Amino acid sequence: MSDVITIRDKTFKPYITQQKITEAVTKVAVKINNDFKQEVPLFLVVLNGSFMFAADLLREITIPCELSFVKLASYHGTESGEVKELIGIGESVRGRTVIVVEDIVDTGNTIDVLYTQLKKMEVAGVFVATTFLKPTVYNKEYPIEYRGLEIEDKFVIGYGLDYLGFGRNLKDLYVLE
Ligand code: IMP
Repeated sequence: MSDVITIRDKTFKPYITQQKITEAVTKVAVKINNDFKQEVPLFLVVLNGSFMFAADLLREITIPCELSFVKLASYHGTESGEVKELIGIGESVRGRTVIVVEDIVDTGNTIDVLYTQLKKMEVAGVFVATTFLKPTVYNKEYPIEYRGLEIEDKFVIGYGLDYLGFGRNLKDLYVLE
């Protein structure tokens, strides 16, 4: 794992290694493979941050499944902002079992929007898979069934997560100093 990383005015130090993340992602995949044997779930990947998790997770998924992408943003800098509009959920999700693929669940505002929209579209069920969860900040009642790693309430980058657009390509997770 490399040293500290500086992006603009902020410094980030190594936090969680790629190896630990990979182990956690594999565990999530094993659980999903086991839980959805009787169904053909639709994985709904929330861009941009979830691209790396989605690629790693889906390569470990062995059950028949489909994949689609949606976009919405909730962060401006390091402060949680307003959740924006949901784009890209064009195809019919009615009656489908949907597994939302998230990079990180923080306050849960994003999950809230997705749940509300998907329920309106009469999906059969919504489940959430996330690489990281900040359990002390999450304040919604929806269960987060598939969680890779629980982390502290600190701003992190890497493994798809960014600060001002930078850091998404980092293999490891870094935390704000
Ligand atoms: P929530 O809506 O507050 O749960 O935040 C979820 C979204 O905010 C994630 O999909 C990320 O895009 C972003 N986010 C939350 N925490 C962090 C962080 O620590 N670093 C980078 N982005 C974050």
